[in-house]
Amino acid sequence: KQHADIDHNKIRLQRSENLKSLIPNKDLVFGRAFTDHMLTIEWKLEQGWFDPIIQPYGKISLEPSAMVFHYSFECFEGLKAYKDKNGEIRLFRPDMNMQRFKRSAARITLPDFNGGELLECLKKLVRLEERWIPAERGFSLYIRPTLIGIQTTLGVGECSHALLFIICSPVGPYYKTGFSAVQLLATTDYVRAWPGGTGNAKIGGNYAPCVKPQLEAAEKGYQQNLWLFGDDDEITEVGTMNCFVHLKNEQGEKELVTPPLDGTILAGVTRDSILSLARSWNEFKVSERKITMLEVIKAQEEGRLLEMFGAGTACIVSPIKGIHYRGRDFSVPLDPNDTSRAAGPITKRFADILMGIQYGEIPHEWSVIV
Ligand code: COI
Repeated sequence: KQHADIDHNKIRLQRSENLKSLIPNKDLVFGRAFTDHMLTIEWKLEQGWFDPIIQPYGKISLEPSAMVFHYSFECFEGLKAYKDKNGEIRLFRPDMNMQRFKRSAARITLPDFNGGELLECLKKLVRLEERWIPAERGFSLYIRPTLIGIQTTLGVGECSHALLFIICSPVGPYYKTGFSAVQLLATTDYVRAWPGGTGNAKIGGNYAPCVKPQLEAAEKGYQQNLWLFGDDDEITEVGTMNCFVHLKNEQGEKELVTPPLDGTILAGVTRDSILSLARSWNEFKVSERKITMLEVIKAQEEGRLLEMFGAGTACIVSPIKGIHYRGRDFSVPLDPNDTSRAAGPITKRFADILMGIQYGEIPHEWSVIV
């Protein structure tokens, strides 16, 4: 039987008959290994969403003419399941991922769905894959909901046939030995996103073109690239993460700045959480506003630059220790009291609190027990 919308009560479960061996935590590499099962839901324009199926993780069979292969009809999400001290499974603000997934899909004419129902399906998959969720702080199960257009045509038009799937991968901390601050190359010959573009949608088409600039940064010895936009080199994002700058502004006030959601910036869940936490502390000004390289360099030269970091689901926060910009190297301060000089105090504080919430150590409505 077919349904107009996703219905988690209609999930059909096909259990895997040969379960894989778990991977020791120390051997986990981000996104390399996958669990035993995946969830798939098909959609057709006339019938709507079909019954969700949980089945063994495996290959999917598509015709080479499927739209996803030609015109990038693909959007995705990334969220994590954590196991707390009591063995309970927790998700972090999964409703935000569902909302963004719907927005991304709408941008590329992929079908809409009931986000609450999809979340129930996701929870069922995560419960089934419980043994794959590492019970150690810093480790989690990365969940990748994906939606693709699979209509078999070379005609460019809206999608009438789609496939949604969710796969899961056990992951460790982004940095094996705690924090490791990165050196950035400010990219001046490519842009990631532009007004009226798709920078705010989590679509595969935004990611493939970013790898070449990142490789070029890596060849020159920089771990990540800093994305700029416009004639005045506004800071936009860092690698695949949102970017935060903590500084003392020209008025002498401490301010945490991140670029505004003007259409060119991905609405990160970690970004939103950091803004919320910082506003609740009420210790410094918190701004979503344009910030240019000129402002950052001036602050650096005048000793007013305090910290910079990237923020995303994969690594939570990623401290920045320096930027190469138009032929010059600028250092970004890290905590002077920390002999490892790994991250600034605000960066560390966000990481500690977010992890505390994610692992259920700090009670918070953002952490959802599955
Ligand atoms: C992030 O979580 O920071 C990401 O952008 C995920 C990445 C693997 C695409």
